[in-house]
Amino acid sequence: MYLGVDYYPEHWEKERWDIDASLMEKAGIEVVRLAEFAWSKLEPDDGVYDFSWLDEVISILDRHHIKVVLCTPTASPPAWLIEKHPDILPVNRNGQRMSFGARRHYCITNKVYYYYSERIIRKMAKHYKDNPQVIGWQVDNEFGGPKCYCENCRKEFQLWLKNRYKTLDNLNKAWGNAFWSHDYTSWEQIPLPIVYYHNPAFDLDFRRFFSDMTVRYSNMQIRLLKELNPDKFVTHNFMGLFPELDYYELAKEYDFVSWDNYPRGPENRYRSALAHDVMRGLKKKNFWVMEEQCSYLTREDITRTFPPGEMRLWTYHCFAHGAETVVYFRWRACNFGIEQFHSGILQHDGTDKSISYRELLQMKDEIRRVGPKIEGTKIVSPVAIIYDYENIWVNCAYTEKPMYDYPGEILRFYKAIKKLGINVDTVRPTDDFSSYKVVIAPLLYVMTDEIAENIKRYVSKGGIFIAGFRCAIKDKNSNMLKDVLPGKLRDLFGIGIYAWDNIRDRTVEIRDKEGRIYRGDTFADLITPEGAETLAWYNSSWYKGYSAITLNAYGKGKAYYIGCGLEQEFYDLIMKELLSEYEVKEVIFPEEVEVNIREKDGKRFIFVNNFSDKEVFIEIKRDMFDLISEKYIQGRVMLLPFGVMILEV
Ligand code: GLA
Ligand code: ZN
Repeated sequence: MYLGVDYYPEHWEKERWDIDASLMEKAGIEVVRLAEFAWSKLEPDDGVYDFSWLDEVISILDRHHIKVVLCTPTASPPAWLIEKHPDILPVNRNGQRMSFGARRHYCITNKVYYYYSERIIRKMAKHYKDNPQVIGWQVDNEFGGPKCYCENCRKEFQLWLKNRYKTLDNLNKAWGNAFWSHDYTSWEQIPLPIVYYHNPAFDLDFRRFFSDMTVRYSNMQIRLLKELNPDKFVTHNFMGLFPELDYYELAKEYDFVSWDNYPRGPENRYRSALAHDVMRGLKKKNFWVMEEQCSYLTREDITRTFPPGEMRLWTYHCFAHGAETVVYFRWRACNFGIEQFHSGILQHDGTDKSISYRELLQMKDEIRRVGPKIEGTKIVSPVAIIYDYENIWVNCAYTEKPMYDYPGEILRFYKAIKKLGINVDTVRPTDDFSSYKVVIAPLLYVMTDEIAENIKRYVSKGGIFIAGFRCAIKDKNSNMLKDVLPGKLRDLFGIGIYAWDNIRDRTVEIRDKEGRIYRGDTFADLITPEGAETLAWYNSSWYKGYSAITLNAYGKGKAYYIGCGLEQEFYDLIMKELLSEYEVKEVIFPEEVEVNIREKDGKRFIFVNNFSDKEVFIEIKRDMFDLISEKYIQGRVMLLPFGVMILEV
């Protein structure tokens, strides 16, 4: 467990660097991320390099026992480069070329940009190769666009399609180009999707293409760094629930995933928790947080200042979900530039009086004590939720906006599981599910033979599978299947779905076997049981008689189909029923509190986080040692506002 900061020494006068480094050391900072957007300072003109200032910063940090993660500066091509090669600038959907001036202003397929990126990376990697102070690299910053619609991207897209479909006949069939006279007779006719109405199959392929091009550019950087600096790690700062890239593919060649966590406030804690779990799931491995919010944020708006204690709470929340290191964004608030209203650990005044700095001082000793104990612990989960980018993209088939809230549908289940203090993994639909008691799949639109077989294999061997509405309606090209729904999984669920309704604008009544009434929302699959048992029926207007929730025995396991969105109470009940054996037994806690467990060699560490700004009470069922307060505790105990405990079992 280490703490770090994102530092931009190029934003301050030289004389300040040593003061900063000693303040960092005093507060227990052990890692600093540098050079993220510093291209214009590292290569002030074409082929003219100046690493002297960075060398000096690194040696100052060295004197203060602080390690360095360097960034490739490619998120921000300098003005001289754009002047020479304006084609690097991306073109937006309206055909306008972006101007120089913000960041991420490059087209991800541009060959000239590859050349200049490689050149600066080579220079930097050679320069820092033998510097043990530099422990690793962060590639670029937050990949993800803007998407580019330039002529070169169009050619690349056509090539990519040719590679995928081989013949135009295959492409025309896969996309359903008989519709509205869209048949292509040459590859060159294929445009980029700049029209208002997308063909969903075309739209999906363009999303795959953009993701693939990003992975290609990212892999170029990773391979170069690995070749030149084989002893240093290579990572990238991902963006949690960001939907536009296939993060599983992007993560493949990195040593581990890092991500940028900006939860804003306790009201978003479940989303932030889920994002941590998604990030851990990308490589099934613990991760870093490379940018952790330390207080107020800015750009479109200015968010609230974290009250004392909240930064510390979020920090332990990262560790609770599998973070190894937490790096705060940013060391000091900047006096200029677009983020001048963005907080840092130090405020603009640079004194050690800020709330965040004082909190760091408090955490320093804690982390030094707790860290070695937690080292090497893992998150083990009895339940997994499918999180899949093809399904996220298919959910956007009509416009850029998603049809349904993909993370929102996941969160209904997720919240219910977290209330029991149970860890959750996120997985791909083709992963091996055998270690999980329960696998949940909201909005699993896309169904292939491979996925169907994987799910059925899991259930037949004793697994419990739960699907939400709109399951298995589409093929891998985002076209509707011709089967009776839920298509390839019809026998698994023992149901047929011959009618459905969109209920975004209203709710309907659902009655379960015990006579409990719930409100159904969002979408209604009107289920006809064909072997399955009905657990709840629709109880409104013409839906009456249709099943809303069914359960089917399949092999040694069972499969639930939940036909509509339901009130939270329903998810709480079903998760408790299915997962009670895994419920955390040692601590009883209210909803404001989150509980996660890390474990190693039979030892368990229960992380307890109070997300409320008020005192709350929890009940500790047996005598346990709290690593934070260094006391044995038992019985009814109070957690301070934003309080934290790590109980050793
Ligand atoms: C992102 C970026 C940072 C900074 C922060 C501001 O995550 O990576 O450079 O702009 O947002 O919150
Ligand atoms: Zn382009």
